[in-house]
Amino acid sequence: MSVGEALAARHASRVYEPQAVPRGVLTRVIEAATRAPSWGNTQPWEVFIAAGETMNAIRGAYLANLRNHVAPSPEVGPIEVWPAHVQQRYTDRLLAICAALGADPADPAGQQAAAEGQMAFFGAPATIFLCSHPGLEPWSLFDLGALGQSIMLAAVEEGLSTTPAFSAVSYPDVLRRELEIPEDYRIVIGIEIGYEDETNPMNTCRSVRRSIDEVLRIKGA
Ligand SMILES: Cc1cc2nc3c(=O)[nH]c(=O)nc-3n(C[C@H](O)[C@H](O)[C@H](O)COP(=O)(O)O)c2cc1C
Repeated sequence: MSVGEALAARHASRVYEPQAVPRGVLTRVIEAATRAPSWGNTQPWEVFIAAGETMNAIRGAYLANLRNHVAPSPEVGPIEVWPAHVQQRYTDRLLAICAALGADPADPAGQQAAAEGQMAFFGAPATIFLCSHPGLEPWSLFDLGALGQSIMLAAVEEGLSTTPAFSAVSYPDVLRRELEIPEDYRIVIGIEIGYEDETNPMNTCRSVRRSIDEVLRIKGA
């Protein structure tokens, strides 16, 4: 598989099969991805993976928190107000998924089901958590991003699907308890990983991209 093929195939999956990913495959994906660059080769990442019973314990705790209206407390906070042109792309993507599902985005039952899907990690059999150290940001976030994309491409080569998910780090206290993550690591992002349900409309509906002419400016070449 070429890099171009892996880039084109990668997408965020939102329904996974329960089939477990072997420990050796997970290790291979992370080992390949740690060839990612980092500032001065500082490699400011710590990686924790939840699978099997540990993944199910986290999933159960997240769903219980959602149903009990426990407010999420991610350690790298969300952007509260997006600039209007960015918000539009966010909204367009949501509407495209709803259209693919034949769902009404304003339907409260649908919104609850979507929230449960997020808190259930979309049924993924495993999730990779990328952690950094406070004091190294914001540049360590760039390094973690490079690692994250490398993980997602290495996963494609293994026949696996992934979802980078802010929702996966909603409840750091649960993650620290189940994965024994030290207090001095900052839990940044989760990447759900597994074998996707290839026929589900949530997975067949692909996101669009801005045109290259809008994104790119080149001078002198
Ligand atoms: C930092 C980051 C956080 C994300 N958080 C979520 C999330 O919480 N839930 C979700 O369903 N998708 C999440 N995504 C996936 C994006 O929605 C997805 O990458 C985007 O819509 C483009 O679609 P594609 O990855 O299928 O090309 C996140 C992606 C990134 C990079």
